[in-house]
Amino acid sequence: MKRKVTKAIFPVAGLGTRFLPATKSVPKEIMTLVDRPLIQYAIDEARAAGIEDFIFVTSRGKSALEDYFDHSPELESALRKSGKTDLLDTLKATNMDSGAIAYIRQHKALGLGHAVSCARKLIGDEPFAVILPDDLIASEKPCLQQMIEAYQDTGGAMVAAMEVTPEQTSSYGVLDVLSEDGSVVKVKGMVEKPAAGTAPSNLAVIGRYILTPRIMQNFKNIERGAGGEIQLTDAIAYELTAGRDIFGYKFEGERFDCGSKAGFLQATVSFALKRPELRDEMAGFLKSLDVDKALAG
Ligand code: UTP
Repeated sequence: MKRKVTKAIFPVAGLGTRFLPATKSVPKEIMTLVDRPLIQYAIDEARAAGIEDFIFVTSRGKSALEDYFDHSPELESALRKSGKTDLLDTLKATNMDSGAIAYIRQHKALGLGHAVSCARKLIGDEPFAVILPDDLIASEKPCLQQMIEAYQDTGGAMVAAMEVTPEQTSSYGVLDVLSEDGSVVKVKGMVEKPAAGTAPSNLAVIGRYILTPRIMQNFKNIERGAGGEIQLTDAIAYELTAGRDIFGYKFEGERFDCGSKAGFLQATVSFALKRPELRDEMAGFLKSLDVDKALAG
């Protein structure tokens, strides 16, 4: 039995340039999908997987995130007085216990790997999860839970893996596969954003990871990688150099890239259609759209 994974890092210090001008004042993770900010979906997934300690790597201008997870006594009391118990329950479900959340600042956006390394002192000697709230995964069993269960057998470092088209590989970290056993893939290499035509496979790394504390040491041994950033992929791939295992996990579920406008809009429509109170109206609206006319111009 491997050590239980109870800590998760949420790197949310990126600049979010693809959503400018909105992200000038609203953190990307606070943007709303139906009626909940993106970060809430990530937190719910982590909680369902047994995570107890939530570590946010933030940056300047992200204070809305800290406020979001605080209690809101005035709002709660107003809802209680007016008998709006359903809303009160919804609100309370977003509260986090005192001491469950830690915030660490990444002073300069030097890359995802650098953001993760900023949390090293809070991780100590335990395995930990990393969740990118941009990657939203709709699934019966939460993606992180699927991975934590698989990790109990494999140990090592584990990354969520998803098949993409050959044209898409240059936007992702890509796995070089040694062997496959059901949903688990043993990895012999990882490349961040390979140049077109050079990807070792079509299995891309998605924003869910279970990592060993040794990864934090690896940052000392890697240089800046793709895009001049300190890449998490490179720190994980260093495990192979040190003779340790890396696994990919082909999760069950539908993933939306909410870091891109098209992905965010697709997630909004898909999640709205899953909500009983919105389904009929949304379906009616979608059917009424004259897509051909829009495409024509
Ligand atoms: P992205 O590659 O989506 O970058 O980061 P971004 O800055 O958020 O968005 P764009 O590309 O400018 O629109 C993936 C994840 O890594 C975090 C981001 O917050 C996001 O969750 N990240 C990235 C950091 O925390 N720090 C960094 O230096 C870079």
